[in-house]
Amino acid sequence: MSGRPFRVLGIESSCDETAASVVDDGRSVRSDVVASQNEVHARYGGVVPELASRAHILNVVPVVQAALDRAECTLADIDGIAVTNAPGLVGALLVGLQTAKALAWATGKPLVGVHHLEGHLTAIYLEPDPPPLPHLALIVSGGHTSLVRVGGPGDLVELGATRDDAAGEAFDKGAKLLGLGYPGGAVIDKLAKTGNPRAVEFPRSMTADVHRADFSFSGLKTALLHHVRAKGVPDGQELADLCASYQAAIVEVLVRKTRRTARKLGIGHVQICGGVAANSGLRAAMEQAGAEDDFKVYIPPIGRCTDNAAMIAAAGYHRLVRGERDSLDLDAAPSKPLARQS
Ligand code: KG4
Ligand code: ZN
Repeated sequence: MSGRPFRVLGIESSCDETAASVVDDGRSVRSDVVASQNEVHARYGGVVPELASRAHILNVVPVVQAALDRAECTLADIDGIAVTNAPGLVGALLVGLQTAKALAWATGKPLVGVHHLEGHLTAIYLEPDPPPLPHLALIVSGGHTSLVRVGGPGDLVELGATRDDAAGEAFDKGAKLLGLGYPGGAVIDKLAKTGNPRAVEFPRSMTADVHRADFSFSGLKTALLHHVRAKGVPDGQELADLCASYQAAIVEVLVRKTRRTARKLGIGHVQICGGVAANSGLRAAMEQAGAEDDFKVYIPPIGRCTDNAAMIAAAGYHRLVRGERDSLDLDAAPSKPLARQS
């Protein structure tokens, strides 16, 4: 190659963010545009799939255009197109996918489908000091919670996952119960900052060794429901205390399982990714665990923990330079797993 960077347009629409980004060589982000649908879904306390699809349809072309404009380029300067095709809401996925396919067909540029969680795992490679291979990854998003050994491209082994609610779901459902709106993670995080994490006792589920690296968060949500039924939804300091206690229960389980798995595997490098990796309590607790147990912790900046297309462009870049191509038959795969099970 001539030394000119390999430029990828990434498109993401798997849930409730319409995003597009232009990334050079899988490292250098030229633009990163995210249109959030929080206002569309807030009144329902969760994502309404049909409304998400419709909002994606309205947003996708302007978002792609904005990504190209901010990158100061046109489609002619793009070397490949990467799009999330799995997993997610099928109607939402299809909007980004059809757009990417139409652009690939019209321009003749290569197309590659990216698994959304592979995107989350790749976000950290946009930072100056990414983790070496192999490393352990805790993926914590609205739909997924899993511990994955990342050995290299295509070498992903899932060591444990949630049996029921994902960590992000636990935050969102907890916030809904407390009348705090959607998405709930960031709101609980903010309130928890001034609360006492030991004020209310919540269960730490599946922390015994027999449960290995699997998680369960639905019991915690039920415990909060019982608490609220018995005592009502508090306000002021008591609300902050309740949020801090609820958050601490989620964070403690995530950190305990991650450090135990890192120790068992003898792995000294741990990344956290996905929307819940934006949580200040989790970030601090994992850093502390790393300092105590001697593993290095890698966490993307907050905007690259939550859904974005820069991570999809970066993951797509690595596939494209390995020669991978998808045809225009590429389909949405709403529940495709990321990794091989251990
Ligand atoms: O990765 P993401 O943007 O979308 C999915 O792939 O699901 O993750 C969204 C999730 C939501 O459940 C949201 O409440 C949670 O990430 N989240 C947080 C925080 N910011 C976003 N959870 C806890 N603390 C936060 N600061
Ligand atoms: Zn995500």
